[in-house]
Amino acid sequence: MTPPSPRFWEIFFEVYESLPRQGPGSRVCAAEALRSCPDLPEAPAILDLGCGVGAQTLHLAELTAGSILAIDRHAPSIRRLNASLAERGLVHRVRAQVGDMAHPELPPESFDLIWSEGALYNLGLANALPICHGLLRPGGYLVFTDAVWRKQNPPAEVRASFEQDYPTMGWTADVKETIHACGFELLRHFPLPDAAWWDDFYTPMEARITDLRGPYARDAEALGILDQLAQEPEMHRRFSDYYGYEFFIARRPLSY
Ligand SMILES: C[S@@+](CC[C@H](N)C(=O)[O-])C[C@H]1O[C@@H](n2cnc3c(N)ncnc32)[C@H](O)[C@@H]1O
Repeated sequence: MTPPSPRFWEIFFEVYESLPRQGPGSRVCAAEALRSCPDLPEAPAILDLGCGVGAQTLHLAELTAGSILAIDRHAPSIRRLNASLAERGLVHRVRAQVGDMAHPELPPESFDLIWSEGALYNLGLANALPICHGLLRPGGYLVFTDAVWRKQNPPAEVRASFEQDYPTMGWTADVKETIHACGFELLRHFPLPDAAWWDDFYTPMEARITDLRGPYARDAEALGILDQLAQEPEMHRRFSDYYGYEFFIARRPLSY
């Protein structure tokens, strides 16, 4: 498979960095997942892995009284999140920094809650979950979302898209098995509704792509890349019954 060109990444980030979030999710779903963590301390220590521009970081800041460390390897996203934190007067308890979740260089057993929306798959769940296990205090929670298959025999277009973006994507049962194999207890899981794909992700993405077609009207390469990026929401519109996103709420057992 040919890796995307530097121009692809330039246009990709021009679209993605402007969005409210970089993957499916919503405040309603985050609140629901948080309610499934029964005895969090009043002001939990929270780590948000692969935070992007921080939509869920800001939700967590509203929904808890905790201290939050948000990390992402993409520096422009961290700059935007730091600006949002300053604007909202949250810098005393929320910190965003550039970092690699594969090598977080943080003290072991130092978090009550690790949160990650649509990001752990970049490491592969079987690699990411042991890292999270080591960073959580015993009894701490791991809450994450992951894309999963929902229906057999997807159309060739859907299969090809996930071959490219997430070739090891499994079914909910596979994720549950990995959660248990990595020493966690699964408390609950639930699917993200369609609104969580559209409201803050695909609807603004399609609007941004439309807006960029004007300035790039004489640039065939850029227009081709915008067409390519537009395929993802369109594929979801037509074939969303074949795949979905699932929230998983797991806990590191007290005695493990
Ligand atoms: C699909 S986006 C999700 C962003 C955000 N959580 C959201 O839901 O809007 C995945 C994020 O993971 C980040 N990421 C990928 N690999 C990473 C790594 N090894 N360390 C830190 N961040 C990483 C990307 O830069 C990107 O911001």
